[in-house]
Amino acid sequence: MIMKKIMLLTLTVAAILLPACQSSIKNANDRRLDARVDSVLKLMTIDEKIGQMVLYSSDWDVTGPSLNKNYIDEIRKGNCGNIFNAYTAAYTRKLQKIAVEESRLKIPLLFGYDVIHGQKTIFPISLGESCSWDLAAIEKSARVSAAEAAASGINWTFAPMVDISVDPRWGRVSEGAGEDPFLGAKIAAARVHGFQGNNLADSLSILACVKHFAAYGAPLAGRDYNTVDMSKRQFLDMYLPPYKAGIDAGAMSVMSAFNEFDGVPATGSQYLLTDVLRKQLGFKGFVVTDYTSINEMVNHGVAANEADAGLLAIKAGVDMDMQGGVYAKYLKNQLEKGLVSEKMIDESVRRILKVKFMLGLFDDPYKYCNEAREKREVYSAAHLQAALDVAKKSLVLLKNNDQTLPLNKGQKLAVIGELANSKRDLLGSWKAAGEWNDINSILDEIKIYNGTTKVLYAEGCKKMGNDRSGFPLALSVAKQADKIIMVMGEDAGWSGEAASRTDIRVPGVQTELLEKLKTLHKPIVVVLMNGRPLDLSRENDLADAILEAWFPGSMGAKAVTQVLFGNYNPSGKLTMTFPRNVGQIPIFYYEKNTGRPIYLPDPKYKSRYIDCPNDPLFPFGYGLSYTTFAYSEIKLSNHILSPDDSITASVNVTNTGTCDGEEIVQCYVRDLVGSVTRPVKELKGFEKIALKVGESKVVKFTITPDLLAFHRLDMTYGTEPGDFKLFIGGNSRDVKETGFKLVQ
Ligand code: GLC
Repeated sequence: MIMKKIMLLTLTVAAILLPACQSSIKNANDRRLDARVDSVLKLMTIDEKIGQMVLYSSDWDVTGPSLNKNYIDEIRKGNCGNIFNAYTAAYTRKLQKIAVEESRLKIPLLFGYDVIHGQKTIFPISLGESCSWDLAAIEKSARVSAAEAAASGINWTFAPMVDISVDPRWGRVSEGAGEDPFLGAKIAAARVHGFQGNNLADSLSILACVKHFAAYGAPLAGRDYNTVDMSKRQFLDMYLPPYKAGIDAGAMSVMSAFNEFDGVPATGSQYLLTDVLRKQLGFKGFVVTDYTSINEMVNHGVAANEADAGLLAIKAGVDMDMQGGVYAKYLKNQLEKGLVSEKMIDESVRRILKVKFMLGLFDDPYKYCNEAREKREVYSAAHLQAALDVAKKSLVLLKNNDQTLPLNKGQKLAVIGELANSKRDLLGSWKAAGEWNDINSILDEIKIYNGTTKVLYAEGCKKMGNDRSGFPLALSVAKQADKIIMVMGEDAGWSGEAASRTDIRVPGVQTELLEKLKTLHKPIVVVLMNGRPLDLSRENDLADAILEAWFPGSMGAKAVTQVLFGNYNPSGKLTMTFPRNVGQIPIFYYEKNTGRPIYLPDPKYKSRYIDCPNDPLFPFGYGLSYTTFAYSEIKLSNHILSPDDSITASVNVTNTGTCDGEEIVQCYVRDLVGSVTRPVKELKGFEKIALKVGESKVVKFTITPDLLAFHRLDMTYGTEPGDFKLFIGGNSRDVKETGFKLVQ
């Protein structure tokens, strides 16, 4: 008994002292790090200090306008401390050697690259991956990408892109995690953890970069780089959470956005880069601009020339100038004129050097330049297996009438469409070092699985353009088959950066071909490859089944095939609303009720269109399975929620179908009365469960007051007492409902 008491006492003391010990160890490490940084800083000339604030692209890859051709000389002179768009262990070693053996102070380089959804092993595009709602899989994807990037000489990725967006006209929705702040925040943290691991010094870890700060996903008219103008309340409640989550997860770099925010370009915004990022979020890393976004403040019309733009940037809190050459050209002279202080420059240089120390680059500048490791790590079987796993989970079954899917092996199939035979498009945009010559197309994989003799193919038409000459052959091929699989959608370059569209329907004459195929009265499966929500109204009328495949990556074709033939029961759910047409945009599930909601009895005077329903074609959180799930009514542990308490909402989910499957159970709340209007639903919890046929599982969500906080009328952040509704279901529309009261 005495031993037990001693043990209990010891554990109690340890529990009390441990956090204090941990923080004192952390502080000691920080102090040691700061001392190392200062030991370098005091040796630096002003040119060398400014050199650390310069990031130039190599000419190995191009990701924007203008290239600085003499970046190698700049490295040698100590005028460029950071390079992007360069990779392989050999090439980065060559450049690192110049920095650490030929420059005066031998400060190692950062090597950045857009490893957005893979380095060489390419995962589904980020929007697709987000539809897995599988945080472990998403973190794994980032971890594998980091391992391959680190083995290829890269120590910094310009990811995760965490911009919330509710506008599929904007092509960069393909790089994000959809429309929801709660899910977006969880995914942002998972991706940062995946890239940075538990320790930046780990050889598999690379520096993450939360981008694009901020609210880049809300450009006027969905046009890339366009104006962003929204209330501070909407920004803080709906757009900021994923950036905050990425920073809280430890991201040590942030990229400023191209867009203006509230009249000020993000790259020159003290509100964004200092008040919010530094003071409110406590960000301790460094801020890098987006590609020449300092220079572009002249175009924005807030600076008369690039020198003035540079002053705006450094005063706002920008530490590193990507590709613009503005700091390199003007900062020293501005210092001499007293327009900036050396203290400001030192602060930026400290932040950058600190990260280089944290990465272990001063201890071993060549740690990422190991060619043997590159051969071992990059494109390994284990990584490809991980890509297959994530790809399968990212696929979303949107329609499946009369059990058209899964296909039976051995049926005679007609595969139609250019995208069915495409390998390049599978990799989507931002494919980094991904190659496609050695991967299989969807057609290849269907032939492998179903037997070549049982699979006929016709291109039918291109993925864009209006050439219909292939239609007759496609029809004659389709006539010979039991079922038709049409792979259609966008070219991989039709989403991503600088790829906004005013028409979000399937391009070209692909849908016309689908209409012709429909006249054959055979079951038609549509497989979609696209980087944004599309207007699928026509395809939804014509197809018996629709599988959303996004751009599923190096192993995407195998993933699609495994779902088509039922080897994997699809479990993905949309993380972005699919509108009925472009006229409904912006459309998202967390809309406000308005004073004249659609459900009012008056046939006319209410918030509606006269030519289209209000609701989307496919709502946020929607996705089918080959099985079915039933939800019980919700049980609450209490209908009163006190400020320092929590309530548990539980629901029993049963697999009522004919095959095992996974379901993403979602929990939403609604604040019925607030000091400001509140959304009709907000996601506050989700859980992915696996259920065998006939199996049931109780899923529980813990609701705490902090989940209900928002920016109130006076712009303070917190909760307000009152009545709430709580919803649980398999998407944001089909839900069970109950209610509770939050009390003071
Ligand atoms: C591009 C993109 C940004 C990317 C950077 C470097 O313009 O906006 O997301 O990381 O330049 O390629």
